[in-house]
Formats: sequence, structure tokens, C-alpha cells
Amino acid sequence: MQKISFPGDFIWGCASSAYQVEGSWNEDGKGPSIWDTFVHTPGKIAGNETGDVSTDHYHRYKEDVALMKELGLDAYRFSTAWSRIMPDGSGKVNQAGLGFYDRLVDELLGNKIEPYICLFHYDLPQALQDKGGWPNRDTAYAFADYARLMSDHFSDRVKVWFTHNEPWVSAMAGYFSGEHAPGIKDPLTGFKALHHLFLSHGLAAEAIRASAKQPLKIGITLNLNPVYPASAAKKDREATRRMDTALNRLQLDPFLKGTTPLQEFAVGKVLSKSIVKPGDLEKMHSLDLLGVNYYSRTVARYDPKFPVVAAKQVFPDGNEYSRMWEIYPEGIYELLKRIWKDYFTPGSVKPGVDEKAAPEIMITENGVPIPDGVDFDGRVRDERRIRYLRTHLYQVHRAMQEGIPVRGYFHWSLMDNFEWALGYAPRFGMIYVDYETLNRTIKDSGRWFAGVIRENGFEL
Ligand code: GCO
Repeated sequence: MQKISFPGDFIWGCASSAYQVEGSWNEDGKGPSIWDTFVHTPGKIAGNETGDVSTDHYHRYKEDVALMKELGLDAYRFSTAWSRIMPDGSGKVNQAGLGFYDRLVDELLGNKIEPYICLFHYDLPQALQDKGGWPNRDTAYAFADYARLMSDHFSDRVKVWFTHNEPWVSAMAGYFSGEHAPGIKDPLTGFKALHHLFLSHGLAAEAIRASAKQPLKIGITLNLNPVYPASAAKKDREATRRMDTALNRLQLDPFLKGTTPLQEFAVGKVLSKSIVKPGDLEKMHSLDLLGVNYYSRTVARYDPKFPVVAAKQVFPDGNEYSRMWEIYPEGIYELLKRIWKDYFTPGSVKPGVDEKAAPEIMITENGVPIPDGVDFDGRVRDERRIRYLRTHLYQVHRAMQEGIPVRGYFHWSLMDNFEWALGYAPRFGMIYVDYETLNRTIKDSGRWFAGVIRENGFEL
């Protein structure tokens, strides 16, 4: 049997986010976020489910850290709820909110698990949305103030920081399509929000560094999808290029090159005059660590009915599907190869900055939703997730064998949790959560992953 092994210092982790696991949505002085408002609006979430309680991680964090220890995780990537720290998004600081994350960080460190903090994972304080939200440039500066406060308080213990999780999703699902909070449906507003979210990364990176109590790594996690043409027809190949620009280059260019392809879209031409200020792109170009969130690929077909990209995603026959997307392991390899070729090889990095200064790369999310259940003997036999893990880790290792220095892998997710507009039906966890009793059960995939961490690899 062939074994594949990872480097000795490879980081194995799991990821989660505040709104999806914590619950206690209005406890201990926490202010409402746009997700609290959204889930309490009938019709927005499948079954009108909410994150009011979720997995109750806010109270059960000790038990959950003990489970992370049992899995043998090196690190845990979680997000902090801005409105727990600053209930109005700015001004007054809620000490009880800081206290929760102190307890979580100290519990992790006490169990030799590195805390990776992500400062924003969709849950904007409602008070800031009331002042315009991300389409309002002031929000980017409020974010930097929050980041400064968090770095001042936690940087003595936390060495790895992500400013944002998937800012593209915050902007496009929140303000362009309206599927996510705050549920605004307007392309121009979506692109405005995107620009200010990206700007806020640069402002926050500066603020975190300014308050840092030790050398830190500051990164961002991006949802990236390799895009493939539905056919060899020219129209589909052109549609693929536009879709790739909208999904991938729109994010990678600013953070890794300090440029933007925004003007390639009509809406971008309008916007770049009004919202892109001198120095904005330079501020965005600031990254020690690129977090790649990969789930699946996108297959694009020309379709003039679709705004901005005149392309739509299609779902070819032949591969396995989960309830949310195609399962396409090669995509993570091809994505890593493309990022490395277009953004990290000599000549692609910022002029005058050599490769050594190029950011590190990590897989910060990868996983699959499966309708898991507990068998008679109490086990959760999630073979499909083990197969997903095996095939995707094989492809990550393949990219590493070809010289791409992936530093770590974080599975989405540690536990089953609130899957945004889909509610609790999609189960992504390596740990099963019984939503009636909130009991946790490590699934077979968690046991398998613990073996991979122990062996630092696995048999093919
Ligand atoms: C993210 C993701 C997660 C999702 C996961 C499965 O922003 O990182 O949206 O929050 O739960 O990607 O869809």
C-alpha cells in the first residue's frame, strides 16, 4: 500500500465561525448582528431555523476544545463576533464579550491547540448596517478600529489572524443576490460592498500590526473556484474567462498584486470612478497568509440573461454530487497550481518583493455536507466524508509534490452547525451534533482524520 506523508510541521486543523456555532445570540451584552435580524425575518432561512442556540458552543466550549484535543488538532480556526465585542459596532466595548474569547483562547492554549482568529465571518453588527453597512466606506474604518482593539487584547496569545472570511460571499450573497444577510439585491451595491470589504482588510492589517505584542501572521480566507468551460465553443470559453475574473481574479489580484480587474465589467467602470480612491488598492495589497477555501469547481456556459458575467453555472453529469455542489477533488490541485503560477512565481509578486516575501498558502476550508445519522451502535459511519477527505488531501499532497508549499489544512467543519440560509440540514462536521440534546459524537471521519494527524499522512 502506498503511503502519502506530509511535512513534519504541516498544520492540521478544523474551522468554524461565530454565528454558526456559538448561539447565545443576545447574551452577556452582545448586540444584534445582521444575521440575528435576518434569521428572525420569516422566510429567509429553511424551516425558519435560527442560530439563536445553534450548537451552544458559547457555553460548551470546554467540551468542544476537549474534542479537538481528542482529534489531535494542531490549530482551530474560529471567528469572533464583532457585535459581542462592540455591541454597536463602534464605541462601547463589552467586557463580557472579550471575556468569552479570553476563556476560549486560554482553553485552546491550555490544550496546546493554536488559536487562529478570524475577525469577520459575515456577522456585521446591525447598528453598522443601519448606517449603510459595507456599501458605506465608513464601515471599513470601523472594522479597523475593532481589529486594533482585538489585536491589543489578544495578540499576546494569538499569533495567526485572518481579517476576513470570504469577503466576496459577504458582498455578493449579502448585497448582490440577497440570499444572505442583510438580504439586499442590487449588483452595484454588491460591488460597492466588495470594495469596502477589501479595503477594510488593508486598514485592519495595518491596525493589527500597530497593536501587535509579538510578530504575527495576518491573512485572509477567500472562497475560490477553478472555472471550466461547459463546452469547447468560443462563447463558453469566453464565458469561463469572465466567470473566472468575477470569482477569482477579482479577489486574488488586489490582495496579491495590488491591482483589480474591476474595469473589465461595465458595472466596474462606473464604480471605479466613484468608490476606488487613490491608495485603496495599495492598502489591500498586504498579506502574510493566503487562506484558500475550496469546495468544488464551477462549470460555466455562455448565457446573456445573467448580469455582469453573461454566464451561468451548469452541473455536468458523471461526477458524484453532494446536496450543495459537485464533488471534484482535482479542482483543489488545479486551483493551487493556478494561484502559484499566476501570483507567486517570479515576476508575479509585487515588483521589488522577492518570492520569500510571498505569502504562505493554507487550505482554510474544505468539506462536504452529508445527511449523517447515528447508527444503532452510536457510530456515525460517514464513509462519504472519509472518501472526500482522502481524495482532496491526495490532491493537496500532489500540488505540494510539485513544489507548492501548502502549510496546512483546515477541515470545514469541526462540528455540524448552522449552514446559513439552508439551516441545519447540511451536516459538515467531523463531530455529529444532536440538535435536540446538543450531545456531540465524533464521526468515523473524525477518527480517520485523527489517524492522519497522528501519522502525518495516510495509506492510499
Ligand atoms: C464560509 C462558508 C462556511 C460554510 C461552508 C459550507 O464562509 O466559510 O460559507 O461558513 O458553512 O463553506 O458552505
